[in-house]
This record gives sequence, structure tokens and C-alpha cells, in this order.
Amino acid sequence: MRYTLGPLVPDRDLDDVVAIEALSFPHPWSKAMVLAAVAPSARGHAYVARSVTGVMAYCVGQLVVDELHIHTFAVHPTVRQCGLGGRLLRTVLREAESGGATSSTLEVRRSNIAAQRLYERAGFTRTAVRPGYYRAPTEDALIYWRRSPHRDAVRPA
Ligand SMILES: CC(C)(COP(=O)(O)OP(=O)(O)OC[C@H]1O[C@@H](n2cnc3c(N)ncnc32)[C@H](O)[C@@H]1OP(=O)(O)O)[C@@H](O)C(=O)NCCC(=O)NCCS
Repeated sequence: MRYTLGPLVPDRDLDDVVAIEALSFPHPWSKAMVLAAVAPSARGHAYVARSVTGVMAYCVGQLVVDELHIHTFAVHPTVRQCGLGGRLLRTVLREAESGGATSSTLEVRRSNIAAQRLYERAGFTRTAVRPGYYRAPTEDALIYWRRSPHRDAVRPA
């Protein structure tokens, strides 16, 4: 599959993103939630992988001071386990670091082994647990953090 990686453009990408979101999560983000997160005033940091047929994968996050908070991330079910999620995540992290992020964080359901592998392969470390954080079904959230390997160069101590 041929695709390009680049910033999420709401007018072009939003319908595809919420369609994949609905296929991927029991409580998917709405268009309004994605739009609010990606707004420049919210310091949105959102990327998509696009093929000729549309969005294949996306990552929606926000920069909070010098931290990247990843809110939602998914690959279309038809193209999972082909390396796309890993490539998109590496691009998102690299772009955030070049914009000044010194660390990145996210939450994941305890049962979501695929996502945990993906994040661990990208250098994230499990640092905490929020018991019963998710609803329907109730489940723990695992909190992951990743420090930028170049953080000292980005922001002197
Ligand atoms: C999690 C998700 C984004 C992974 O995307 P992907 O494109 O399939 O991932 P990749 O093919 O790039 O694989 C990246 C790593 O994750 C691991 N992985 C991916 N799917 C896996 C699975 N089903 N089971 C175990 N490990 C898996 C791979 O082993 C790979 O590591 P590797 O380098 O050792 O091969 C995708 O499964 C998805 O969209 N899931 C539903 C939405 C979701 O859970 N998002 C995350 C919310 S926190």
C-alpha cells in the first residue's frame, strides 16, 4: 500500500478519521472533539497516513508546555500489523521533538496488548496505573511516558 504521512487537515481528513475511530474504539471521539483538539489555539499535534482512498491511520495529540499528550491513535482495521502504526508514531514523535517536546505521554487499556507493544517499541515506558479508569467495560488505564532522546539539546537544564 502506498501512502504519505503529513499533518491532519480537518476539511479533508476529519470524516475518514472519525470513521476509523468508530471502527476502533467502544467510545469513539466525535468530529467536534477531534476539531477542538487539533485547533492551533489548542496546540494540536495531529498527523495522518493517507493513501489514494483516504486516511489509513491517524494520531491526534496536543502539546502541553513541552509535553506531547497523545489522545487517540488508530490504524484502519484492514491495514493493521503492516508497520504503518509504528511508522506514523515515529513521525509524530520526531515532529513533536523538533517543535520542542521533551517528553510524550498517553493512556492505554490494560487489555490492549497491540497498542502496548507499539508504544514500547517506540520507547515508551509504563510508569503508572489508573485503576478502573475506563468505562464500558471498566478497565485499568496504563500510563506511558517517553522522554525525548534529544531533550537536553532541545531545552537546556
Ligand atoms: C494499536 C495499533 C495502532 C497498531 O497499529 P499497527 O499498524 O497494526 O502496528 P504495527 O504494524 O506498526 O506494529 C507495531 C508494533 O506493535 C506490535 N503489534 C501490532 N499489532 C499487534 C497485535 N495485534 N498483537 C501483538 N502485537 C502487535 C507489533 O508486533 C509491532 O512490533 P514489532 O516491531 O515487534 O513488529 C492498531 O492495532 C490499532 O489501530 N488498534 C485499534 C486502536 C487502538 O487500540 N489504538 C491505540 C489506543 S491507546
